[in-house]
Amino acid sequence: MDENSIAWKTAERVHEEGGEFVLTNAPIAMRMGSIKDLAEKTGSEIIPADATKVEDLDNLVEKAMEIFGGKIDFVLHSIGMSVNVRKGKHYTDMNYDYTTKGWDVSAVSFHKTMQSLYKKDAMNEWGSIMALSYIAAQKVFPDYNDMADNKAYLESIARSFGYFFGKEKNVRVNTISQSPTPTTAGTGVKGFDGFIAYADKMSPLGNATGMDCANYIITLFSDLTKRVTLQNLYNDGGFSNMGVSQQVMEAFIRDQEEE
Ligand SMILES: NC(=O)c1ccc[n+]([C@@H]2O[C@H](COP(=O)([O-])OP(=O)(O)OC[C@H]3O[C@@H](n4cnc5c(N)ncnc54)[C@H](O)[C@@H]3O)[C@@H](O)[C@H]2O)c1
Repeated sequence: MDENSIAWKTAERVHEEGGEFVLTNAPIAMRMGSIKDLAEKTGSEIIPADATKVEDLDNLVEKAMEIFGGKIDFVLHSIGMSVNVRKGKHYTDMNYDYTTKGWDVSAVSFHKTMQSLYKKDAMNEWGSIMALSYIAAQKVFPDYNDMADNKAYLESIARSFGYFFGKEKNVRVNTISQSPTPTTAGTGVKGFDGFIAYADKMSPLGNATGMDCANYIITLFSDLTKRVTLQNLYNDGGFSNMGVSQQVMEAFIRDQEEE
């Protein structure tokens, strides 16, 4: 996590709006140090947790409630990692141990987080739980590799758990499907520069930045969106509903003429 991370930008924006929160990351990632700067800046505490470990998540939820002196209003899951991508394994040549690990970190961790919150009855009524997704869950982006499958699973968990959280606790659960964004996770995708430029040219409003995403999350944490739930919400400058744009066509024609 660093200042480019979507979670970092969200923490800064929530702090500006007067919200209080705890920060967390995997214990190994903690050693990078920069999360401490964010904690100082926002007056928040850090509780390390590996999001694949139920005992870490239980501890995170308990400690957070202790710090707040009560229940939680909002939670952001901002975690994604594919070991196959990291190790350069092609989608057609997967290492299934890597697949399982990536799926656990990127998708099942969202279920585990919600299950901890649910069992401990840790959410306030009309609270909001969010996770971050990408349109490769719906459409083919070959270089996104098994993260496409992880995101499809993540979005499904949001709906399935969102039902129970809505029915039993009046809590909403949604995912935001965000434009490609230059963060550590983002730039790990092969051909990211081409990817981000293409999405920008395709989208009538251009790519949504990390800060645009943070702002959108603020609206979804607010009481003004209290009955929005079970949704995958696109924050992508219009990309998801485009067929082709003039700019992309022009670039393609130029390319053809040069051949
Ligand atoms: N950057 C993009 O282009 C883009 C686009 C759409 C969606 N997203 C999603 O946004 C979310 C945030 O990613 P980001 O782009 O800010 O990148 P990022 O690399 O800054 O954030 C990912 C975080 O996940 C953490 N993490 C990894 N394994 C963990 C574990 N086991 N337990 C706890 N934390 C763990 C990492 O330490 C890191 O802080 C991810 O879900 C990502 O897939 C990113």
